[in-house]
Amino acid sequence: MARRSFVAGNWKMNKTPEEARALALDLRTRLNSYAKCDVAVCPTNLCITTVVEALRGSSIAVGAQNVFWEKSGAYTGEISAPMVVASGCQYAIIGHSERRQYFGETDATVNKRIKAALTARLKVIACVGETKEERLSNVTQQVVKRQVAAALDGLTAGDMALITIAYEPVWAIGTGLNATPQQAQEVHAFIRDLVRAKFGAAVADAVRIQYGGSVKADNAKDLLSQPDIDGALVGGASLAAKDFEAIVKAAK
Ligand code: PGA
Repeated sequence: MARRSFVAGNWKMNKTPEEARALALDLRTRLNSYAKCDVAVCPTNLCITTVVEALRGSSIAVGAQNVFWEKSGAYTGEISAPMVVASGCQYAIIGHSERRQYFGETDATVNKRIKAALTARLKVIACVGETKEERLSNVTQQVVKRQVAAALDGLTAGDMALITIAYEPVWAIGTGLNATPQQAQEVHAFIRDLVRAKFGAAVADAVRIQYGGSVKADNAKDLLSQPDIDGALVGGASLAAKDFEAIVKAAK
């Protein structure tokens, strides 16, 4: 089945509001009439409203980099899924490895955040991926299986229409070391099998699985031409409009 490609930019902790507006407007000019794949950018929370405003009426959607599971209350530093929706976002990245590595996110909190996002009707980019040590110890599949199972725990087949899974090997993020197209394809096919086992063939055929980890203009085509790679979650290369444009245009 033909899945529409989806390329998302994860701006991480980069760009002031002024810089974010400039990047969004540049992307808007470059990609506005581009309809061959879905595109989203995920600025810092501080820049969400600025970027939503800059991209209003364009084909580029906006996402948050995380959401908390409660709707409001005494949770210093967090933002909720309904707030993100009210600010004009359609997406939220959840479970990014940097959240797991530096901010204590666990499989259980990732699942809670995903459920809160779905309740607010946000589309979720759920991230999974093994560390270098795990790959070298040949436990990649075990780790990815555990993370996927936890992320999707308690979800229905209907919920899966709002889910994109991002496979991001931790050793490839921000390191310049991307997985080879074959390495990535192998894990993507494995993830699709996990979704098939849990939700059946129709959901597995429809779910989009992005690759992330040092995706650049020059390696995007080889990665994105793999049968089970349906797009990319792009960090560093999403911070320059020209590079991100090239990656979007490399998507099938
Ligand atoms: P990178 O980051 O493209 O800079 O490796 C990807 C990500 O963390 O989503």
